[in-house]
Amino acid sequence: PKEQDWVMSHLYQYQGFWHPIRELQGVLSCQHHFQARDTDIILATNPKCGSTWLKALAYVVVNRKIIPLDDNHSLLSKNPHELVPCLELRVYVDHQVPDLTELPSPRLFSTHLPVESLPLSIKETSCKVVCLARDPKDTFISLWHFANKLRPPNDGKLQLEEAFDKFCKGVSFLGPFWDHVLSSWKYSLDNPNKVFFLKYEDLKEQPKLYLKKLAEFWECPFSSEEENNGVVDEILSLCSFDNLSNLEVNKIGKLSTGEHNEAFFRKGEVGDWANYFTQEMTEKLDEICLNKFQLCGLKI
Ligand code: A3P
Repeated sequence: PKEQDWVMSHLYQYQGFWHPIRELQGVLSCQHHFQARDTDIILATNPKCGSTWLKALAYVVVNRKIIPLDDNHSLLSKNPHELVPCLELRVYVDHQVPDLTELPSPRLFSTHLPVESLPLSIKETSCKVVCLARDPKDTFISLWHFANKLRPPNDGKLQLEEAFDKFCKGVSFLGPFWDHVLSSWKYSLDNPNKVFFLKYEDLKEQPKLYLKKLAEFWECPFSSEEENNGVVDEILSLCSFDNLSNLEVNKIGKLSTGEHNEAFFRKGEVGDWANYFTQEMTEKLDEICLNKFQLCGLKI
């Protein structure tokens, strides 16, 4: 089935989720060709849940022994999406099958694919997967702003109500949002050593704690010497919203797929939804979340 999209292009339903049509070729290619390694790290994020932040953190943490935390750090001149490429959006595009065997381990990749559609080799190897989720109301508001930034000016502004209606029906970029989050949460429960289920809100509230947990999960824990020398704080401030959003590259740069880097940085806060939602919208989304999440035991 096809649907008019409200984010990027027309949507096409594939394996139960809505994909922009122009990205389907990349999805199929990576499903067929990607060969995961045991040492790979995959960031499997729901769109607008903080992928950019997680990519920055993962890149800096994993490479900190070879890329010093100084003024020449690659994160200061490259957008995180360039440093940690998305399998279906950036690696397997234009019908190419790139040779990824020469990349040094641990290789870092991201994906927005739901667990159901992940390449088999990701599931069959012991590579590590971080699933990132976020409060649905904040995710929706972030997605709505993002959609408006990407729309051609002649199309006018997308109305909040129209976007909300589609989001609630599950029709959104990689929606239904709830199914996407639920399947990654269940995947993490079934595979606790392989999958780390992370919430944007937890990372915002206790960044140091969660960064240390992530580093352990990625098998590159911080030594006590690093902790005493303030390395964890330094990484957090390097990857902070204020730092990244004010970099020249993220103010004026563009990704190879056309998006302006600045579109990935807006407010970076928890609870901004309250500035947009009516009482009716709040009740509607709360009810969906009650049925989808809480009854399964997921608090988000
Ligand atoms: P808001 O639109 O609510 O501000 P993604 O990276 O998955 O596309 O998600 C984008 C959201 O993450 C945006 O949320 C963006 O502002 C926020 N974000 C980007 N970089 C961040 C950072 N370093 N720290 C916290 N939030 C960040």
